[in-house]
Amino acid sequence: MKVLFATSELSPWVKTGGLGEVAGTLPAALRALGLDVRVLVPAYPEMLRSFPHAEEIARPHGLGGLLPTPTLRQALAPDGTPLLLVDYPPYFNRPGNPYLGPEGRDWLDNHLRFGLLSRVAAWLGSDANTLAWQAEIIHCNDWQTGLAPAYLRYLPGPRAKSLFTLHNLAFQGLFDHASLFELGLPDGAWHLDGVEYYGFLSFLKAGLQLADAITTVSPSYAREIQTDAEGMGLAGLLRHRSERLSGILNGIDTQAWNPATDPHLFRNYSARNLDAKADNKTGLQRQLGLQQRTDLPLLAVVSRLTEQKGLDLLLEVAPQVLKLPAQLAVLGTGTLALEQAWAALAQRHGGQCTVTVGFNEELAHRIEAGADIFVMPSRFEPCGLNQMYSLRYGTPPVVRATGGLADTVIDAADQKHGNGFVFGPATADALLQALQRATAAWRDPVRWRALQKRGMARDSSWAEAARQYVALYQRV
Ligand code: ADP
Ligand code: GLC
Repeated sequence: MKVLFATSELSPWVKTGGLGEVAGTLPAALRALGLDVRVLVPAYPEMLRSFPHAEEIARPHGLGGLLPTPTLRQALAPDGTPLLLVDYPPYFNRPGNPYLGPEGRDWLDNHLRFGLLSRVAAWLGSDANTLAWQAEIIHCNDWQTGLAPAYLRYLPGPRAKSLFTLHNLAFQGLFDHASLFELGLPDGAWHLDGVEYYGFLSFLKAGLQLADAITTVSPSYAREIQTDAEGMGLAGLLRHRSERLSGILNGIDTQAWNPATDPHLFRNYSARNLDAKADNKTGLQRQLGLQQRTDLPLLAVVSRLTEQKGLDLLLEVAPQVLKLPAQLAVLGTGTLALEQAWAALAQRHGGQCTVTVGFNEELAHRIEAGADIFVMPSRFEPCGLNQMYSLRYGTPPVVRATGGLADTVIDAADQKHGNGFVFGPATADALLQALQRATAAWRDPVRWRALQKRGMARDSSWAEAARQYVALYQRV
Protein backbone atom coordinates (compact mmCIF):
# COMPACT_ATOMS: atom_id res chain seq x y z
CA MET A 1 0.00 0.00 0.00
CA LYS A 2 1.37 3.42 -0.98
CA VAL A 3 0.74 6.02 1.69
CA LEU A 4 1.66 9.69 1.68
CA PHE A 5 2.01 11.07 5.21
CA ALA A 6 1.57 14.84 4.90
CA THR A 7 2.74 17.01 7.76
CA SER A 8 3.82 20.55 8.63
CA GLU A 9 6.37 19.39 11.25
CA LEU A 10 8.90 16.60 11.28
CA SER A 11 11.06 15.65 14.23
CA PRO A 12 14.01 15.86 14.75
CA TRP A 13 14.34 18.70 12.23
CA VAL A 14 11.24 20.85 12.67
CA LYS A 15 9.15 20.44 15.80
CA THR A 16 6.95 22.72 17.87
CA GLY A 17 5.13 19.91 19.69
CA GLY A 18 3.66 16.46 19.53
CA LEU A 19 2.73 16.53 15.84
CA GLY A 20 6.41 16.76 14.88
CA GLU A 21 7.22 13.85 17.16
CA VAL A 22 4.44 11.68 15.69
CA ALA A 23 5.44 12.51 12.11
CA GLY A 24 9.04 11.64 12.94
CA THR A 25 8.22 8.18 14.28
CA LEU A 26 4.91 6.74 13.04
CA PRO A 27 5.92 6.46 9.34
CA ALA A 28 8.88 4.19 10.18
CA ALA A 29 6.60 1.99 12.32
CA LEU A 30 4.23 1.70 9.35
CA ARG A 31 7.09 0.88 7.00
CA ALA A 32 8.15 -1.86 9.39
CA LEU A 33 4.75 -3.45 8.72
CA GLY A 34 5.50 -3.51 4.98
CA LEU A 35 3.77 -0.33 3.81
CA ASP A 36 5.36 2.04 1.30
CA VAL A 37 5.06 5.26 3.32
CA ARG A 38 6.60 8.55 2.22
CA VAL A 39 6.51 11.79 4.17
CA LEU A 40 5.59 15.12 2.58
CA VAL A 41 6.84 18.23 4.39
CA PRO A 42 7.75 21.82 3.42
CA ALA A 43 11.40 22.46 2.58
CA TYR A 44 12.05 24.65 5.60
CA PRO A 45 15.63 25.96 5.96
CA GLU A 46 16.40 23.23 8.49
CA MET A 47 15.30 20.51 6.03
CA LEU A 48 17.45 21.92 3.23
CA ARG A 49 20.43 22.29 5.56
CA SER A 50 20.05 18.67 6.70
CA PHE A 51 19.47 17.32 3.18
CA PRO A 52 21.57 19.56 0.93
CA HIS A 53 21.58 16.95 -1.85
CA ALA A 54 17.82 16.38 -1.95
CA GLU A 55 17.28 15.87 -5.67
CA GLU A 56 14.57 17.50 -7.73
CA ILE A 57 12.02 14.90 -8.85
CA ALA A 58 9.10 17.00 -10.14
CA ARG A 59 7.69 20.47 -10.65
CA PRO A 60 3.93 20.23 -10.07
CA HIS A 61 2.41 23.09 -12.07
CA GLY A 62 -1.06 24.39 -12.80
CA LEU A 63 -2.10 23.94 -9.18
CA GLY A 64 -4.78 26.62 -9.49
CA GLY A 65 -5.63 29.96 -7.91
CA LEU A 66 -2.55 31.91 -6.84
CA LEU A 67 -0.62 28.76 -5.96
CA PRO A 68 2.92 28.79 -7.37
CA THR A 69 4.83 25.93 -8.98
CA PRO A 70 7.11 24.43 -6.33
CA THR A 71 10.02 22.07 -6.79
CA LEU A 72 9.46 18.63 -5.29
CA ARG A 73 12.67 17.18 -3.86
CA GLN A 74 13.38 13.73 -2.51
CA ALA A 75 15.67 12.73 0.36
CA LEU A 76 16.09 9.72 2.61
CA ALA A 77 15.71 10.02 6.38
CA PRO A 78 18.29 8.10 8.45
CA ASP A 79 15.56 5.60 9.45
CA GLY A 80 15.02 4.79 5.76
CA THR A 81 11.81 6.79 5.27
CA PRO A 82 11.69 8.64 1.93
CA LEU A 83 11.01 12.35 2.40
CA LEU A 84 9.34 14.54 -0.21
CA LEU A 85 10.14 18.22 0.28
CA VAL A 86 7.90 20.96 -1.09
CA ASP A 87 10.50 23.54 -2.04
CA TYR A 88 9.26 27.05 -2.71
CA PRO A 89 11.68 29.47 -1.02
CA PRO A 90 9.37 32.53 -0.96
CA TYR A 91 6.99 30.49 1.23
CA PHE A 92 9.21 28.24 3.28
CA ASN A 93 12.70 29.69 3.41
CA ARG A 94 11.92 31.77 6.48
CA PRO A 95 13.50 31.90 9.92
CA GLY A 96 12.04 30.42 13.09
CA ASN A 97 8.85 28.53 13.64
CA PRO A 98 6.82 27.00 10.75
CA TYR A 99 3.76 29.09 11.61
CA LEU A 100 4.94 32.32 13.21
CA GLY A 101 6.99 35.30 12.15
CA PRO A 102 9.74 36.79 14.31
CA GLU A 103 7.22 38.83 16.36
CA GLY A 104 5.32 35.70 17.28
CA ARG A 105 2.39 36.41 14.96
CA ASP A 106 1.05 34.04 12.30
CA TRP A 107 2.56 34.59 8.85
CA LEU A 108 -0.03 36.50 6.83
CA ASP A 109 0.13 34.06 3.93
CA ASN A 110 -0.27 30.86 5.95
CA HIS A 111 -3.30 29.91 3.87
CA LEU A 112 -1.14 29.90 0.74
CA ARG A 113 1.82 28.21 2.44
CA PHE A 114 -0.22 25.32 3.82
CA GLY A 115 -2.66 25.42 0.91
CA LEU A 116 0.35 24.64 -1.27
CA LEU A 117 1.37 21.78 1.01
CA SER A 118 -2.18 20.37 0.88
CA ARG A 119 -2.41 20.87 -2.87
CA VAL A 120 0.86 19.04 -3.54
CA ALA A 121 -0.36 16.18 -1.31
CA ALA A 122 -3.48 15.90 -3.46
CA TRP A 123 -1.38 16.14 -6.63
CA LEU A 124 0.65 13.14 -5.44
CA GLY A 125 -2.59 11.19 -5.07
CA SER A 126 -3.99 12.14 -8.48
CA ASP A 127 -3.46 11.40 -12.16
CA ALA A 128 -1.63 14.70 -12.64
CA ASN A 129 1.26 13.17 -10.70
CA THR A 130 4.24 12.76 -13.06
CA LEU A 131 6.23 10.41 -10.77
CA ALA A 132 6.35 6.64 -11.04
CA TRP A 133 5.03 6.60 -7.47
CA GLN A 134 1.38 7.54 -6.88
CA ALA A 135 -0.12 7.58 -3.40
CA GLU A 136 -3.20 5.45 -2.74
CA ILE A 137 -3.83 6.97 0.68
CA ILE A 138 -3.15 10.57 1.70
CA HIS A 139 -2.74 10.65 5.48
CA CYS A 140 -3.29 14.27 6.55
CA ASN A 141 -2.46 15.76 9.95
CA ASP A 142 -4.12 18.81 11.50
CA TRP A 143 -5.36 21.91 9.73
CA GLN A 144 -2.16 22.54 7.81
CA THR A 145 -2.93 19.59 5.53
CA GLY A 146 -6.71 19.73 5.99
CA LEU A 147 -7.34 21.05 2.49
CA ALA A 148 -5.89 17.94 0.84
CA PRO A 149 -9.20 16.01 1.20
CA ALA A 150 -10.96 19.05 -0.31
CA TYR A 151 -8.64 19.16 -3.31
CA LEU A 152 -9.05 15.40 -3.74
CA ARG A 153 -12.80 15.78 -3.62
CA TYR A 154 -12.98 18.54 -6.25
CA LEU A 155 -10.29 17.20 -8.62
CA PRO A 156 -11.46 15.37 -11.76
CA GLY A 157 -10.32 11.81 -12.48
CA PRO A 158 -9.21 8.94 -10.24
CA ARG A 159 -7.54 9.88 -6.97
CA ALA A 160 -6.33 8.62 -3.63
CA LYS A 161 -8.45 8.09 -0.53
CA SER A 162 -7.76 10.27 2.47
CA LEU A 163 -7.39 9.88 6.21
CA PHE A 164 -7.39 12.94 8.43
CA THR A 165 -5.73 12.72 11.84
CA LEU A 166 -6.77 15.36 14.31
CA HIS A 167 -4.07 16.24 16.82
CA ASN A 168 -5.74 19.31 18.23
CA LEU A 169 -9.20 20.78 17.68
CA ALA A 170 -8.14 24.19 18.96
CA PHE A 171 -6.22 25.13 15.81
CA GLN A 172 -8.74 25.43 13.00
CA GLY A 173 -6.98 27.28 10.18
CA LEU A 174 -9.62 29.97 9.55
CA PHE A 175 -9.27 32.37 6.61
CA ASP A 176 -11.56 34.78 4.80
CA HIS A 177 -13.75 34.09 1.79
CA ALA A 178 -11.27 35.58 -0.69
CA SER A 179 -8.84 32.78 0.06
CA LEU A 180 -11.19 30.31 -1.66
CA PHE A 181 -10.21 31.78 -5.02
CA GLU A 182 -6.55 32.25 -4.06
CA LEU A 183 -6.34 28.58 -3.16
CA GLY A 184 -7.88 27.48 -6.44
CA LEU A 185 -10.96 25.87 -4.92
CA PRO A 186 -14.21 25.95 -6.90
CA ASP A 187 -17.14 28.15 -5.81
CA GLY A 188 -19.08 24.96 -5.09
CA ALA A 189 -16.69 24.22 -2.21
CA TRP A 190 -18.13 27.22 -0.34
CA HIS A 191 -20.84 25.19 1.28
CA LEU A 192 -21.94 23.73 4.59
CA ASP A 193 -20.86 20.33 3.27
CA GLY A 194 -17.59 21.76 1.96
CA VAL A 195 -14.96 24.08 3.37
CA GLU A 196 -17.17 26.91 4.64
CA TYR A 197 -17.43 27.39 8.39
CA TYR A 198 -19.49 30.28 9.80
CA GLY A 199 -18.46 32.62 7.00
CA PHE A 200 -14.82 31.54 7.01
CA LEU A 201 -12.83 29.01 5.06
CA SER A 202 -11.66 26.43 7.61
CA PHE A 203 -8.84 24.06 6.72
CA LEU A 204 -9.70 21.93 9.74
CA LYS A 205 -13.36 21.65 8.92
CA ALA A 206 -12.49 20.76 5.33
CA GLY A 207 -10.42 17.83 6.55
CA LEU A 208 -13.05 16.65 9.02
CA GLN A 209 -15.87 17.04 6.52
CA LEU A 210 -14.28 15.62 3.41
CA ALA A 211 -11.74 12.95 4.46
CA ASP A 212 -12.74 9.33 3.92
CA ALA A 213 -11.88 8.57 7.54
CA ILE A 214 -10.99 10.61 10.62
CA THR A 215 -8.84 9.61 13.55
CA THR A 216 -7.74 11.43 16.60
CA VAL A 217 -4.89 10.55 18.90
CA SER A 218 -6.68 8.86 21.81
CA PRO A 219 -10.00 7.05 22.29
CA SER A 220 -11.07 9.39 25.11
CA TYR A 221 -10.45 12.51 23.01
CA ALA A 222 -12.45 10.93 20.17
CA ARG A 223 -15.42 10.73 22.56
CA GLU A 224 -14.90 14.13 24.21
CA ILE A 225 -14.85 16.13 20.97
CA GLN A 226 -18.32 14.83 20.09
CA THR A 227 -19.78 16.65 23.10
CA ASP A 228 -20.86 20.28 22.81
CA ALA A 229 -18.77 21.15 25.86
CA GLU A 230 -15.51 20.01 24.28
CA GLY A 231 -16.24 20.03 20.57
CA MET A 232 -15.05 23.62 20.02
CA GLY A 233 -17.89 24.33 17.60
CA LEU A 234 -17.34 21.16 15.59
CA ALA A 235 -19.14 18.61 17.80
CA GLY A 236 -22.17 18.49 15.52
CA LEU A 237 -20.05 17.69 12.47
CA LEU A 238 -18.04 15.11 14.42
CA ARG A 239 -21.19 13.42 15.70
CA HIS A 240 -22.54 13.41 12.17
CA ARG A 241 -19.37 11.63 11.00
CA SER A 242 -18.96 9.47 14.11
CA GLU A 243 -19.02 6.24 12.13
CA ARG A 244 -15.88 7.36 10.37
CA LEU A 245 -14.18 8.72 13.48
CA SER A 246 -11.98 6.66 15.78
CA GLY A 247 -9.27 7.21 18.38
CA ILE A 248 -5.83 5.62 18.00
CA LEU A 249 -3.52 6.24 20.94
CA ASN A 250 -0.11 7.63 19.98
CA GLY A 251 3.09 5.81 20.73
CA ILE A 252 6.41 7.45 21.53
CA ASP A 253 9.90 7.19 20.10
CA THR A 254 11.13 4.46 22.44
CA GLN A 255 14.69 4.79 21.16
CA ALA A 256 15.07 8.52 21.73
CA TRP A 257 13.20 8.24 25.03
CA ASN A 258 14.96 5.38 26.73
CA PRO A 259 16.59 6.15 30.09
CA ALA A 260 18.98 3.22 29.62
CA THR A 261 20.60 4.75 26.51
CA ASP A 262 19.53 8.43 26.41
CA PRO A 263 22.74 10.36 25.60
CA HIS A 264 21.45 13.56 27.21
CA LEU A 265 21.30 12.15 30.74
CA PHE A 266 23.83 12.65 33.53
CA ARG A 267 23.63 8.91 34.11
CA ASN A 268 21.70 6.15 32.39
CA TYR A 269 19.41 3.88 34.36
CA SER A 270 16.67 1.32 33.98
CA ALA A 271 14.00 -0.35 36.10
CA ARG A 272 16.70 -2.71 37.36
CA ASN A 273 19.06 0.01 38.63
CA LEU A 274 16.70 2.79 39.56
CA ASP A 275 19.14 4.07 42.20
CA ALA A 276 21.15 5.61 39.36
CA LYS A 277 18.22 7.94 38.62
CA ALA A 278 19.27 9.95 41.69
CA ASP A 279 22.38 11.26 39.90
CA ASN A 280 20.10 12.81 37.32
CA LYS A 281 18.28 14.70 40.05
CA THR A 282 21.50 16.07 41.49
CA GLY A 283 22.81 16.95 38.04
CA LEU A 284 19.59 18.72 37.13
CA GLN A 285 19.50 20.65 40.40
CA ARG A 286 23.07 21.78 39.79
CA GLN A 287 22.38 22.77 36.18
CA LEU A 288 19.22 24.73 37.06
CA GLY A 289 20.60 26.36 40.20
CA LEU A 290 18.26 24.53 42.58
CA GLN A 291 19.41 23.63 46.08
CA GLN A 292 20.95 20.16 46.00
CA ARG A 293 18.46 18.54 48.35
CA THR A 294 17.60 14.88 48.24
CA ASP A 295 14.99 15.24 50.99
CA LEU A 296 12.60 17.31 48.81
CA PRO A 297 10.59 15.95 45.89
CA LEU A 298 11.39 17.69 42.62
CA LEU A 299 8.24 18.41 40.58
CA ALA A 300 8.62 19.28 36.92
CA VAL A 301 6.88 20.54 33.80
CA VAL A 302 7.92 20.49 30.13
CA SER A 303 5.17 22.08 28.11
CA ARG A 304 3.80 24.76 25.90
CA LEU A 305 2.75 27.49 28.32
CA THR A 306 -0.81 27.95 27.12
CA GLU A 307 -4.37 27.80 28.37
CA GLN A 308 -4.70 24.19 27.07
CA LYS A 309 -2.00 22.90 29.38
CA GLY A 310 -3.58 24.26 32.59
CA LEU A 311 -0.32 25.73 33.83
CA ASP A 312 -2.18 28.75 35.14
CA LEU A 313 -3.73 26.33 37.66
CA LEU A 314 -0.30 25.18 38.75
CA LEU A 315 0.85 28.80 38.95
CA GLU A 316 -2.05 29.56 41.27
CA VAL A 317 -1.09 26.86 43.78
CA ALA A 318 2.67 27.04 43.26
CA PRO A 319 3.36 28.92 46.54
CA GLN A 320 1.47 26.18 48.45
CA VAL A 321 3.24 23.46 46.50
CA LEU A 322 6.63 24.92 47.40
CA LYS A 323 5.54 24.91 51.05
CA LEU A 324 4.66 21.17 50.97
CA PRO A 325 7.71 21.37 50.76
CA ALA A 326 8.83 20.60 47.21
CA GLN A 327 10.99 21.97 44.43
CA LEU A 328 9.60 22.98 41.06
CA ALA A 329 11.32 23.09 37.65
CA VAL A 330 9.48 24.38 34.57
CA LEU A 331 10.62 24.35 30.93
CA GLY A 332 8.38 25.89 28.29
CA THR A 333 7.42 28.61 25.86
CA GLY A 334 4.02 30.04 25.14
CA THR A 335 1.93 33.10 25.78
CA LEU A 336 3.86 36.12 26.99
CA ALA A 337 1.59 36.52 30.05
CA LEU A 338 2.26 32.98 31.28
CA GLU A 339 5.96 33.14 30.49
CA GLN A 340 6.26 36.34 32.52
CA ALA A 341 4.15 35.12 35.42
CA TRP A 342 6.21 31.95 35.70
CA ALA A 343 9.49 33.85 35.46
CA ALA A 344 8.32 36.19 38.23
CA LEU A 345 7.46 33.24 40.46
CA ALA A 346 10.90 31.72 39.93
CA GLN A 347 12.51 35.03 40.83
CA ARG A 348 10.65 35.15 44.14
CA HIS A 349 11.64 31.58 45.03
CA GLY A 350 15.23 31.29 43.82
CA GLY A 351 16.85 27.96 44.70
CA GLN A 352 13.51 26.23 45.08
CA CYS A 353 11.74 27.03 41.82
CA THR A 354 13.26 27.56 38.39
CA VAL A 355 11.68 28.45 35.07
CA THR A 356 13.47 28.10 31.75
CA VAL A 357 11.70 29.91 28.94
CA GLY A 358 12.70 28.34 25.63
CA PHE A 359 12.60 25.16 23.59
CA ASN A 360 15.41 22.88 24.72
CA GLU A 361 15.41 19.22 23.74
CA GLU A 362 18.35 18.21 25.93
CA LEU A 363 16.94 19.88 29.01
CA ALA A 364 13.57 18.20 28.35
CA HIS A 365 15.31 14.80 28.56
CA ARG A 366 17.23 15.78 31.68
CA ILE A 367 14.05 16.95 33.37
CA GLU A 368 12.20 13.72 32.57
CA ALA A 369 15.07 11.80 34.16
CA GLY A 370 15.94 14.12 37.04
CA ALA A 371 12.48 14.98 38.34
CA ASP A 372 10.61 12.86 40.88
CA ILE A 373 7.11 13.81 39.75
CA PHE A 374 5.88 15.18 36.40
CA VAL A 375 2.91 17.57 36.33
CA MET A 376 0.41 17.82 33.44
CA PRO A 377 -2.84 19.52 34.53
CA SER A 378 -4.17 19.98 30.98
CA ARG A 379 -7.68 21.35 30.43
CA PHE A 380 -7.81 19.14 27.36
CA GLU A 381 -5.16 16.85 25.93
CA PRO A 382 -5.73 15.00 22.65
CA CYS A 383 -2.99 12.53 23.56
CA GLY A 384 0.02 14.05 25.30
CA LEU A 385 3.46 12.57 25.00
CA ASN A 386 5.24 13.82 28.09
CA GLN A 387 3.20 11.69 30.47
CA MET A 388 4.36 8.64 28.49
CA TYR A 389 7.99 9.79 28.60
CA SER A 390 7.55 10.29 32.35
CA LEU A 391 6.17 6.80 32.88
CA ARG A 392 9.11 5.37 30.99
CA TYR A 393 11.59 7.45 32.98
CA GLY A 394 10.25 6.36 36.37
CA THR A 395 8.88 9.84 37.01
CA PRO A 396 5.22 9.24 37.93
CA PRO A 397 2.95 11.85 36.36
CA VAL A 398 0.18 13.87 37.99
CA VAL A 399 -2.45 14.45 35.31
CA ARG A 400 -5.98 15.64 34.83
CA ALA A 401 -8.42 12.95 33.68
CA THR A 402 -8.80 14.11 30.09
CA GLY A 403 -8.09 12.75 26.59
CA GLY A 404 -4.92 10.75 26.22
CA LEU A 405 -3.91 11.46 29.82
CA ALA A 406 -6.94 9.50 31.00
CA ASP A 407 -6.03 6.70 28.58
CA THR A 408 -2.44 6.29 29.75
CA VAL A 409 -2.23 7.16 33.44
CA ILE A 410 -3.86 5.01 36.13
CA ASP A 411 -4.31 6.48 39.59
CA ALA A 412 -2.18 5.07 42.40
CA ALA A 413 -5.39 4.28 44.30
CA ASP A 414 -5.41 1.17 42.13
CA GLN A 415 -2.67 -0.66 43.99
CA LYS A 416 -2.16 -3.26 41.31
CA HIS A 417 -2.09 -1.13 38.16
CA GLY A 418 -1.58 2.46 39.38
CA ASN A 419 1.29 4.34 37.69
CA GLY A 420 0.56 7.98 38.55
CA PHE A 421 -1.99 10.39 40.00
CA VAL A 422 -5.19 11.47 38.31
CA PHE A 423 -7.57 14.27 39.29
CA GLY A 424 -10.93 15.32 37.87
CA PRO A 425 -12.04 18.95 37.91
CA ALA A 426 -9.87 21.55 36.16
CA THR A 427 -9.42 23.55 39.35
CA ALA A 428 -6.40 24.65 41.32
CA ASP A 429 -7.78 22.89 44.42
CA ALA A 430 -8.14 19.51 42.75
CA LEU A 431 -4.63 19.85 41.34
CA LEU A 432 -3.20 20.76 44.74
CA GLN A 433 -4.84 17.74 46.36
CA ALA A 434 -3.37 15.43 43.72
CA LEU A 435 0.07 16.97 44.25
CA GLN A 436 -0.29 16.46 48.00
CA ARG A 437 -1.11 12.81 47.42
CA ALA A 438 1.83 12.42 45.07
CA THR A 439 4.39 14.03 47.38
CA ALA A 440 3.09 11.97 50.33
CA ALA A 441 3.49 8.79 48.29
CA TRP A 442 7.02 9.87 47.32
CA ARG A 443 7.92 9.89 51.01
CA ASP A 444 7.14 6.15 51.18
CA PRO A 445 10.09 4.63 49.27
CA VAL A 446 8.72 1.10 48.96
CA ARG A 447 5.39 2.24 47.60
CA TRP A 448 7.09 4.75 45.34
CA ARG A 449 9.45 2.21 43.82
CA ALA A 450 6.52 -0.07 42.96
CA LEU A 451 4.69 2.85 41.32
CA GLN A 452 7.76 3.78 39.27
CA LYS A 453 8.28 0.22 38.09
CA ARG A 454 4.71 -0.21 36.96
CA GLY A 455 5.01 2.94 34.86
CA MET A 456 8.34 1.87 33.39
CA ALA A 457 6.84 -1.47 32.35
CA ARG A 458 4.11 0.15 30.23
CA ASP A 459 4.49 -0.52 26.49
CA SER A 460 4.42 2.90 24.81
CA SER A 461 5.84 1.76 21.46
CA TRP A 462 4.16 2.51 18.15
CA ALA A 463 3.55 -1.16 17.32
CA GLU A 464 -0.11 -1.33 18.34
CA ALA A 465 -1.04 2.07 16.87
CA ALA A 466 0.69 1.20 13.59
CA ARG A 467 -1.38 -1.99 13.32
CA GLN A 468 -4.55 0.01 13.87
CA TYR A 469 -3.61 2.54 11.18
CA VAL A 470 -2.92 -0.25 8.69
CA ALA A 471 -6.33 -1.78 9.40
CA LEU A 472 -7.92 1.61 8.83
CA TYR A 473 -6.02 2.24 5.58
CA GLN A 474 -7.29 -1.12 4.39
CA ARG A 475 -10.89 -0.25 5.27
CA VAL A 476 -10.63 3.10 3.51
P1 ADP B 1 1.61 19.36 22.38
O1 ADP B 1 1.86 18.78 21.05
O2 ADP B 1 0.18 19.70 22.65
O3 ADP B 1 2.49 20.51 22.70
P2 ADP B 1 2.59 16.81 23.42
O4 ADP B 1 2.71 16.33 24.81
O5 ADP B 1 1.93 15.92 22.46
O6 ADP B 1 1.91 18.24 23.49
O7 ADP B 1 4.02 17.03 22.81
C1 ADP B 1 4.88 18.03 23.20
C2 ADP B 1 6.27 17.67 22.71
O8 ADP B 1 7.06 18.84 22.65
C3 ADP B 1 6.99 16.73 23.62
O9 ADP B 1 7.89 15.97 22.86
C4 ADP B 1 7.72 17.69 24.56
O10 ADP B 1 8.84 17.12 25.17
C5 ADP B 1 8.11 18.77 23.60
N1 ADP B 1 8.25 20.09 24.23
C6 ADP B 1 7.28 20.95 24.57
N2 ADP B 1 7.80 22.09 25.05
C7 ADP B 1 9.14 21.94 25.03
C8 ADP B 1 10.24 22.77 25.39
N3 ADP B 1 10.05 24.00 25.89
N4 ADP B 1 11.48 22.29 25.22
C9 ADP B 1 11.67 21.05 24.70
N5 ADP B 1 10.69 20.23 24.34
C10 ADP B 1 9.43 20.66 24.49
C1 GLC C 1 -1.26 17.84 19.73
C2 GLC C 1 -1.91 17.62 21.09
C3 GLC C 1 -1.19 16.58 21.92
C4 GLC C 1 -0.81 15.36 21.09
C5 GLC C 1 -0.02 15.80 19.88
C6 GLC C 1 0.42 14.63 19.01
O1 GLC C 1 -0.31 18.82 19.71
O2 GLC C 1 -2.04 18.83 21.80
O3 GLC C 1 -2.02 16.19 23.00
O4 GLC C 1 -0.04 14.47 21.88
O5 GLC C 1 -0.78 16.65 19.09
O6 GLC C 1 -0.65 13.85 18.53
